[in-house]
Amino acid sequence: MQLSMWIWNAALLLADQGQIDLLVTEARDLNITDLYVYVAPTWLQEKTVDIANLNIAIQSGGIHAWALDGDADYIDVDAAETRLPPAPASIAIKADIEPQDTPQHDGRFFNGIAELDLNTEQLLSRDTLLSKWVDRLSWASQLVRSHDMQFGAALPFWLNDYEGEPLDIPTSTAGGHTGVMNLLMPILDEYVVMSYNTDPPSTASRVLQQAMYASQQASAGQEMPRVLGGVEVGHGVGTGVEGCRVGRY
Ligand SMILES: *[C@@H]1O[C@H](CO)[C@@H](O)[C@H](O)[C@H]1NC(C)=O
Repeated sequence: MQLSMWIWNAALLLADQGQIDLLVTEARDLNITDLYVYVAPTWLQEKTVDIANLNIAIQSGGIHAWALDGDADYIDVDAAETRLPPAPASIAIKADIEPQDTPQHDGRFFNGIAELDLNTEQLLSRDTLLSKWVDRLSWASQLVRSHDMQFGAALPFWLNDYEGEPLDIPTSTAGGHTGVMNLLMPILDEYVVMSYNTDPPSTASRVLQQAMYASQQASAGQEMPRVLGGVEVGHGVGTGVEGCRVGRY
């Protein structure tokens, strides 16, 4: 079974061999198979040696290393201006980009409104944002996979349940629509569902549809990603996190 852990405070880890050793020892004791380590884009050039050392330590522990990064603003980055810096061997890439309204881009997604309740202009805005996001992830997937590296993404559970409906976008066929999840699954090696919840049973319920879809498609011969459920381990990591029985963890 795959058991992954997110590491956001990688800046503190990078130059501290004691902490790196401790991380690898503890992760092994917990049977963690994969570490998603936050890596800022500039680090691949500025902290090359530190990153390589961390990567070696993680992989020597028999654990897979993923470089993790993401920001809603990446949706607007012009693909032509972006190059993938040479990454240390056998690091995989994980994107964590949410297509929702942010203070910089208020009113593009229209947070909290069901698709049915959007007016025409709002619906166009949401469809445009979601299509752009799917395009960015597809572009990134091609680029990363062309370097023989795996590409994964963290996806909010609400792609499948936004105010009660799965999110979809128009297809090139007039009047056609496709679920965003259906478009993303084939371009990913790993589909991590963010549950924004600290309660494992609630997490499981938020992953079910995605896992079932991937299983069905895989048994029909389609290439499908591994589907994982993400559990939050504490309050205060984000405004949307729902906590239940936190004391247990
Ligand atoms: C890790 O795996 C071993 C062997 O399967 C098992 O005995 C142990 O309880 C596991 N540790 C944790 C923390 O789950």
